[in-house]
Parts: sequence; structure tokens; C-alpha cells
Amino acid sequence: MAPYRTLEWRNDALVLLDQRLLPHEVRYITLTRVEEVAEAIRNMTVRGAPAIGATAAYGMALAALQSPAKTVEDLLRHLEQAATLLKASRPTAVNLAWAVDRIMSLVNALSTNDPTQIFHTILNEAHTIAEEDVQTNRQIGLNALPLLPPKVTFIHHCNTGALATVDYGTALGIIRTAHEHGHEVFVYVDETRPRLQGARLTAWELQQLGIPFQIIVDGASGFVMRTRKVDAVVVGCDRVALNGDTANKIGTYNLALAAHAHGVPFYVAAPTSTIDLSLPNGAAIPIEERSEEEIVAFDGHPIAPVGAPAFNPAFDVTPAQYITAIITEAGIAYPPYEQSLPYQVETAKKW
Ligand code: MRU
Repeated sequence: MAPYRTLEWRNDALVLLDQRLLPHEVRYITLTRVEEVAEAIRNMTVRGAPAIGATAAYGMALAALQSPAKTVEDLLRHLEQAATLLKASRPTAVNLAWAVDRIMSLVNALSTNDPTQIFHTILNEAHTIAEEDVQTNRQIGLNALPLLPPKVTFIHHCNTGALATVDYGTALGIIRTAHEHGHEVFVYVDETRPRLQGARLTAWELQQLGIPFQIIVDGASGFVMRTRKVDAVVVGCDRVALNGDTANKIGTYNLALAAHAHGVPFYVAAPTSTIDLSLPNGAAIPIEERSEEEIVAFDGHPIAPVGAPAFNPAFDVTPAQYITAIITEAGIAYPPYEQSLPYQVETAKKW
């Protein structure tokens, strides 16, 4: 378990570690309203696909708790509004919609006249989603072990650790599992412009875990692959389409191209909750664009000429042809992903 919890339900409220302040300040915020939850997802107080999925599930519990509805019909209407609000808070990670839809289908299948029972059902499901996330991440780590040599050097992008999930992490979970199983691990940590999730969050987690690493600027990965021994690139994902095309933090695509050029295996760690079989390929994945401010200023200080325009897509899509394998809690998917991913999703359901 990480020493700090990313998110936790406590005394009828959702407590979030404010990731905007890390690594220099550890501060928790307590949320009691679904509107606050949507804003915390939007402004990246909490971020990372699995973490925002679980957060949204608890947001639905808050929506039920704060609702003044006296009848089940009114409560359901209120919950539909909350679901729409939460789903709109960040568009790319499918885990958000996945978690909210999972709650709504459970609620819609209930036959009860008791609004309190609806709240308890939602809260229990949110706890289940959170617990499943941790088990899923641990299993992804174990499933990846056979792919890794005893002495293994990784490049990792963004943050996919305990902070991006309920606990343990996905791609960072693979790194952790290798370390825990006695592999000699070293990690090159992409700093991950513009929000610096690598330099701020991944480096913080690796330090606490005692795993050796060096931070590199995003543009250094090709040089590192060419001049040093890199055994694997491991990244997380925000949405994987049926054909394996994968949306993840901006810069992932460049990293995949560099890995391909240097013959370095490129692995995606993907809980099946991040696989969207309804999309045939990555062209249909909505890509969030964030404010220009994130690029032209740092910590409130301008770094570009006043008025300089910027384009800030928060994610990109790596075409499946550059992905060596996709590791889920159900196993390892290899191309052709149109066949292997549906099999993984079905297997995970029975898991
Ligand atoms: O914008 P962020 O920080 O939410 O982006 C996070 C990522 O891109 C992660 O790689 C992805 O969500 C997987 S986290 C296990």
C-alpha cells in the first residue's frame, strides 16, 4: 500500500489527495457535493484514468446523499443529471463513463421505493470499483513479469502509479512488481510536459519505493534509447479501441515511434475498464484540449512572450502497429488486437 491514499470515502465525504500540490505539499481536500467532484476531476486535483473512474463512482454516492428528492423517481432524475455532469468533466479516459454507467445500470435495475437503499447500493458499488482497481493493478504487474529480463531498464511516461489509480498503479505497477520480485530495475522517467506528472508524481512515488530512476525531458527518450540500454517502454492508457489504438498522455505516440525505431518493446498496461470495444479504432477517441495557459506559463509565471498562442492536446493516440503487447488483468494481448482484446475483456468478466 502507498503511504498516501489517492482517494478515500470517510464520514459521508470523499477525501482526495490534492495532486496539484505534489510533491512539495501533501494536502487533502474533503468533498461533499457532486459538483465539487466534477470540478476536482476537471482541474486535475485527482487524475489518472482509474483514479477518476473511482472518484466519479463516489461522486454518484455524494449525488444520492445530497439529493433533496423524496421519491425514487426524483432521485433517479437527480442521478441522471449527476452522471451527465461527471461524464463531461474529462472526455478522453473511458473509465469515467465506465464507472458512472456501471452505477447507473445497477440503480436502474433496482426495484425499491427507498431512496436510502439506492444511496447504499451506489456506495457499495463505488467501494467495489475501488477494491477491484487495486486487485486489477496487482494482477497486471504479475502478468507482465514473464516479459521482463532480470536486469531491466524502463522508460515510463506520465504517472500511472498509486496516484493515478486507487492504489499500486498500472504501468508503474509493472515496474513495482518487477522490483518486488527481485529484478534489478532502473527507470528513465519522462518529465511529461506540460503538467509534469512524471517529474512531480512518478519521481515522488519511485523515491518512496526505493526504485532507482533518473528524470529525463520528454525529448530525450530517443537519445536515451540510442545511447543507453533500454529494455522496455511501459505506459498506461486512457482508452484503448478495438484495434488496439491507444490514447494516453500527450507524448506517448512520439515515445512509441522512437521505441519502434530502436527495436525497444513498447508495452501498454490496460485494465479492461480502459478498453472501449465500441470504438473500432483510435480516430473516434475524443481528445481533450486543455488551456493554453498550461503551456505558456509555469506555476503562474509566464515562460512565453505575452500573447503567444499555444495548442494543448492533453492526449494522443498511438497506432496499434507500434504496440508490442497490451497487458491486462486477464493476461497479455498481442496483435491482432481485434481478436485478443475482446478475449481479454470476456476473460476479465469471469475473473
Ligand atoms: O492527464 P492525466 O494526468 O489524467 O493523464 C494520465 C495518463 O495519461 C495516464 O497514463 C493514464 O490515465 C493511465 S493511469 C493508470
